[in-house]
Amino acid sequence: MSSLRVLISEAQIQARIAEMGAQIAKESSGGPLYLVGILKGACIFLSDLARAIPSPSVRLEFIGISSYGKGKSTSGEVKLTKDLDTMVEGCDVIVVEDIVDSGVTLSYLVQIFRQRNPKSLRIATLLDKPERRMRPVHVDYVGFKIPDEFVVGYGLDFAEDYRNLKDVCVLQE
Ligand code: IMP
Ligand code: MG
Repeated sequence: MSSLRVLISEAQIQARIAEMGAQIAKESSGGPLYLVGILKGACIFLSDLARAIPSPSVRLEFIGISSYGKGKSTSGEVKLTKDLDTMVEGCDVIVVEDIVDSGVTLSYLVQIFRQRNPKSLRIATLLDKPERRMRPVHVDYVGFKIPDEFVVGYGLDFAEDYRNLKDVCVLQE
């Protein structure tokens, strides 16, 4: 039997996202800002973060990536399963991730995005598990640093379940 323990509540998440949105707005040039969500985990964070940035030219893009399968740790192999719909050359880009764990996914994506010649490239993540890092990645905006525990909810899944929880919870088995 598995059980859930709330680690970060809905209210804490929303308060932190409001701060992150304000900070991103302050640090952006005013031109088109592409928020690129990594499917599927980042889609809920992305939709709240976009609404927390007070600017008319926030644009939404998605990329698909597969690395995890059904397990709880990375396979170490990353594959692009869906690419951007738009050219982001010369634009401000923020890659939006649900959680940075080993860093394998983001270090791969940063390489891909650099080849597209954006004006700027930043990374925003709701959660960061720094203890598990295998590849160094520079993350510009971190919602919450969390300990090395497997979490679900607010977009994060275990074998596709629990993404719709409003809180971030630790999944205990
Ligand atoms: P990384 O490549 O190891 O940094 O893994 C990043 C991806 O692994 C995230 O986008 C998540 O999809 C997944 N992931 C890492 N830790 C967790 C977790 O605690 N719960 C759910 N998914 C996780
Ligand atoms: Mg993910």
